[in-house]
Amino acid sequence: MNSAIELRNVSLSFESKRVLNNISFALGEGETMFLLGVTGSGKSVLLKVMLGLLKPDSGEVLIKGQDLVPLSEDDLQPLRRRMGIVFQEGALFDSLSVFENVAYRLREEHLADEATLEQRVREVLRFVEMEAAIEKSPAELSGGMRRRVAIARTIISSPEIMLYDSPTGGLDPVTCLTINVLIAKMRDLQHVTSVVVTQRLQDAYELVNSVYSDEKQTLVPANGAAPPRPATHFLMLRDGEVNFHGNEQDFTHSPDPYVRKFLT
Ligand SMILES: Nc1ncnc2c1ncn2[C@@H]1O[C@H](COP(=O)(O)OP(=O)(O)OP(=O)(O)O)[C@@H](O)[C@H]1O
Ligand SMILES: [Mg+2]
Repeated sequence: MNSAIELRNVSLSFESKRVLNNISFALGEGETMFLLGVTGSGKSVLLKVMLGLLKPDSGEVLIKGQDLVPLSEDDLQPLRRRMGIVFQEGALFDSLSVFENVAYRLREEHLADEATLEQRVREVLRFVEMEAAIEKSPAELSGGMRRRVAIARTIISSPEIMLYDSPTGGLDPVTCLTINVLIAKMRDLQHVTSVVVTQRLQDAYELVNSVYSDEKQTLVPANGAAPPRPATHFLMLRDGEVNFHGNEQDFTHSPDPYVRKFLT
């Protein structure tokens, strides 16, 4: 079976500076990857490469088995529609209401009539628990609310792959939890393949050790009794190179001094 995302020997330089150096990994369907690394290590650039927003100088970027590197902007569109990104800045259109922000992708693709559109917008806003804010403007929302609306805007087209760039960055711990719940909800209810950039290791551990309970509507501990779940990867970039790639256990017990420094 094809991986959801596979990178083979991907390198990218900006002018003379090498920002990604020979990156390879494969992420299976429904799996989650936490992308770790200090500021400037190449995390955001790597997400943009996965979406085809930046083209590597060499290597292959396979999405569901198809290499997107040689594709034209037009040919990229069908693949990109199957993916969603929540950008680091959350980037909402401040001049548009929450409704219009969330409806944007469907409107752009002429995918629905007005009644269906409203129904779908309400459905995703309910999913992120923001339906009450449908008429508001982004300026009226708190940071955590904006982040949730940004997620709603991305998931409206039911992406099979979600890329989150520092989704909890700058948020308080309680709000971080609500974002983690959403990421788990996408993972566990929609079986979405996820790449999550995070500076907060505790978010990665919270997500790997819990599952979303539809009944309790929150995270519950994933104990050994749960059915086998799709793998969770930890990948750490260092100056554009893969410094570590493995599962949670390997990561926690890694003897690598750089990883150890990150853990303490
Ligand atoms: N468009 C660009 N042109 C030139 N250099 C760039 C560009 N985008 C990123 N870079 C450089 O690439 C390197 C990696 O940047 P990137 O944004 O991926 O870091 P990051 O790991 O996401 O950091 P942070 O945790 O601060 O978000 C940095 O040195 C950055 O200055
Ligand atoms: Mg970044």
